[in-house]
Amino acid sequence: MLLPLPLLALTLGLVAAASNEGSVTDYAPATNVQCPDTPLVRVFTPQNQTLHPQEVAYVNARAADVLPGAWKDWIGDGTGIGYNASVMQAMEGNWSKIGIGISGGGFRAAQYGAGVLSGLDARNESAMAAGTGGLLQVASYLSGLSGGSWITGSLYLNNWPTIKDMVFGNGGNLSGWLLDLNLAAPAGVDLFNEDNQYFFGSLLWSIEAKAMKGLDTSITDPWARMISYHFLNQTTRANFFTNNTAHGAGQLWSNIPETAAWQQLQPPFPIIVSDSRPVGSNMTTALPPGPVVYEMTPLEFGSWDPNLSAMVNMTYAGTHFVNGTPPNETACVTGFDQAGFIMGSSASLFNQILDFAQNTLQGFSSQDASGLLYVLGRQLQEVSTRANDVANWPNPFQGLKSQNFEDSASDWLELIDGSSNGENVPIGQLFVRARGLDVVVAVDSSADEATNLWPNGSSIVKSASRISTLLLASHQLFPPIPMTPDDFISTGVNRRPTFFGCYPTQNPPEYPMLIYLPNSPPLNGDNPTTNTGTFQIAYTPVQTRIFIDQVHNNTIGGFLPNTTGPDPNFGKCLQCAAVDRARYKISPMPSRSDFCGTCFQQYCFDPQNPPSQSELPGRQFVFVDPDPQGVSGALTFFAAHKAALIGGFVGLFVVIALLVTFLCVTTFLICRVS
Ligand SMILES: *[C@@H]1O[C@H](CO)[C@@H](O)[C@H](O)[C@H]1NC(C)=O
Ligand SMILES: *[C@@H]1O[C@H](CO)[C@@H](O)[C@H](O)[C@H]1NC(C)=O
Ligand SMILES: *[C@@H]1O[C@H](CO)[C@@H](O)[C@H](O)[C@H]1NC(C)=O
Ligand SMILES: *[C@@H]1O[C@H](CO)[C@@H](O)[C@H](O)[C@H]1NC(C)=O
Ligand SMILES: *[C@@H]1O[C@H](CO)[C@@H](O)[C@H](O)[C@H]1NC(C)=O
Ligand SMILES: *[C@@H]1O[C@H](CO)[C@@H](O)[C@H](O)[C@H]1NC(C)=O
Ligand SMILES: *[C@@H]1O[C@H](CO)[C@@H](O)[C@H](O)[C@H]1NC(C)=O
Ligand SMILES: *[C@@H]1O[C@H](CO)[C@@H](O)[C@H](O)[C@H]1NC(C)=O
Ligand SMILES: *[C@@H]1O[C@H](CO)[C@@H](O)[C@H](O)[C@H]1NC(C)=O
Ligand SMILES: *[C@@H]1O[C@H](CO)[C@@H](O)[C@H](O)[C@H]1NC(C)=O
Ligand SMILES: *[C@@H]1O[C@H](CO)[C@@H](O)[C@H](O)[C@H]1NC(C)=O
Ligand SMILES: *[C@@H]1O[C@H](CO)[C@@H](O)[C@H](O)[C@H]1NC(C)=O
Repeated sequence: MLLPLPLLALTLGLVAAASNEGSVTDYAPATNVQCPDTPLVRVFTPQNQTLHPQEVAYVNARAADVLPGAWKDWIGDGTGIGYNASVMQAMEGNWSKIGIGISGGGFRAAQYGAGVLSGLDARNESAMAAGTGGLLQVASYLSGLSGGSWITGSLYLNNWPTIKDMVFGNGGNLSGWLLDLNLAAPAGVDLFNEDNQYFFGSLLWSIEAKAMKGLDTSITDPWARMISYHFLNQTTRANFFTNNTAHGAGQLWSNIPETAAWQQLQPPFPIIVSDSRPVGSNMTTALPPGPVVYEMTPLEFGSWDPNLSAMVNMTYAGTHFVNGTPPNETACVTGFDQAGFIMGSSASLFNQILDFAQNTLQGFSSQDASGLLYVLGRQLQEVSTRANDVANWPNPFQGLKSQNFEDSASDWLELIDGSSNGENVPIGQLFVRARGLDVVVAVDSSADEATNLWPNGSSIVKSASRISTLLLASHQLFPPIPMTPDDFISTGVNRRPTFFGCYPTQNPPEYPMLIYLPNSPPLNGDNPTTNTGTFQIAYTPVQTRIFIDQVHNNTIGGFLPNTTGPDPNFGKCLQCAAVDRARYKISPMPSRSDFCGTCFQQYCFDPQNPPSQSELPGRQFVFVDPDPQGVSGALTFFAAHKAALIGGFVGLFVVIALLVTFLCVTTFLICRVS
């Protein structure tokens, strides 16, 4: 007779745990943990919204100990942007509070975020020379969603390295993102070759370990594990297809404060964003603005939305609280906040691309979709516990706010991709009133335009609308922007850096300034390589290098109207934008310098006098693959664009479907076979 599976896994787990690199089974949370006496859920109202005291302590400690030096390194004595010593001295205690939000969009978004951050990083020589390098160091918050959460997680769990070391490896303890190893089928198109089978076996082993703790798993769990192989630090090219390390399992979001960089107050405070599907709605389309938007920080999980306004201690996020208390003293769960699962939850877009009701699979021709849907439909039908197409989180807020909170009665939450409500850039959390930000930087690599996959401002329009209607009680106001995506396009502000909200009419200003950094064609007229598809799940090293360099060059280059040259003053203009809100905190308010005034004429959006896309001549919009050889060599199934999409999909979905089925037939704990 076979060894019962739980016992078998337990035995294997003990063997693997002997190595100091951990085991993939470390993905399993700990259950039946003694609950602390202190309250773990906090509930507030939009009117008396408060930040977690440790968030305040971290942000304030950086503002006191680190940011003064970082501002000085960046702005110098201020004469470069036209401010004299007495104005600078007053600004010094009144600096703007800045947050940066990185959009979703798969590997494209992770690489776009990497290129932008390298252009804003004082540790990069060309960014420093251009004057843009330094904004990252003075930022207080960094938010990420979906693909943007992958770069965010990678930065924090790898001890805040430079972009170059993180993405390409440093020859030492960082191995790089290994994006040439396909996310779903790292050993190539043949899913049944030995290496792919080892890889799937390891994923499955992780998921089983979690399922055997009685926690509902879903398609998001293997997805979370796949992401971990690339963005967390225990995977190298040499150990990819082994069980020699945990491959990121056991690295927790709530452990970020233990990293050396955090202790030295180097990084901004991180926030990951996920949307929710109201339980029972089974929605497979884009969400309306209503459903709760959640955030995950190293301290807490919860929402500032007025209809929830509650947070749970992140360490205990897998616990089933009712009315803010666990069912008994030993009902607590820890280790649920796996870094991979946080990134996976934020990027869980499966409910939108699998649509059984309509019998479609987004991105496919109907012919291709029907075969695949047949397979997937059969597999997914087998699993009949919790929703399979979302991330399942025990609801820590059950019983709370029953008048307003739509999932108050539910014992589970269904978390889905953070872009599901159309807000692909996670800036909502940066408008939370208690955070008091002065400047919000939106890093947008949305693929909005149907043909060439450039952003058209749609995400910003959606955020402005949600904030101006549903979030008035909890969030700051939104600055004036073009009303529609068409207006973003006609004014050209989706094709170059733009500052919004430069001219508030009140003091204190009625809204933060918004700095928009959209994915745009190279300003020098080169062919673009950065408008790739969201479902391209492998990049050759050459593709990644040129992608990031193009984004870096655009980020440090700004634009000069009517030319294809970079603006030598862009770095200083960005400094002008970053310091401008400090003026409003000084009494009497010093006037804006002439230099900064000139910058603002060029970079600020003035609704009364909008700019025009005709000022941006000579741009190329059509994607050109910089490494067609590499693609047709190693990854033949990505040779054609269409083939690439289908290859990615087939790889991903067949694998996941197989995993889910396997879970069903092997672990009675999570599946009831119908
Ligand atoms: C403010 O929040 C606290 C919990 O932090 C709550 O006890 C109190 O009732 C709230 N006050 C108001 C006026 O909402
Ligand atoms: C802010 O600026 C004012 C000048 O208006 C100054 O008096 C104050 O000391 C500054 N704040 C700090 C913390 O330095
Ligand atoms: C990997 O990251 C974890 C979490 O940040 C850290 O504790 C560990 O030391 C890192 N390992 C290496 C080899 O860098
Ligand atoms: C990784 O190595 C670098 C030096 O190459 C060192 O400074 C850093 O602390 C190491 N990080 C970890 C987590 O071991
Ligand atoms: C890792 O362990 C799992 C579970 O035992 C197994 O399916 C997989 O093949 C193993 N991978 C390797 C490379 O041994
Ligand atoms: C959602 O799915 C569940 C489980 O399949 C089903 O019981 C429920 O009726 C569905 N709800 C709606 C609104 O379709
Ligand atoms: C979470 O709860 C534990 C136990 O009470 C406590 O030590 C820790 O500080 C809490 N963390 C946060 C972020 O509140
Ligand atoms: C406490 O609650 C947990 C989770 O619901 C359950 O597994 C456990 O049996 C309960 N313990 C007691 C003593 O009731
Ligand atoms: C700075 O960024 C450029 C462009 O991506 C890159 O080539 C260079 O290696 C980076 N330098 C460092 C020190 O990271
Ligand atoms: C980026 O700019 C540098 C300096 O102008 C140039 O040498 C390099 O070729 C550019 N890279 C790309 C990919 O355009
Ligand atoms: C750009 O060129 C247009 C006409 O082609 C002109 O109207 C506009 O003033 C120019 N803009 C700048 C800033 O020179
Ligand atoms: C510095 O600039 C401010 C505002 O432009 C001006 O009022 C002040 O007189 C200047 N101070 C000196 C010492 O030049």
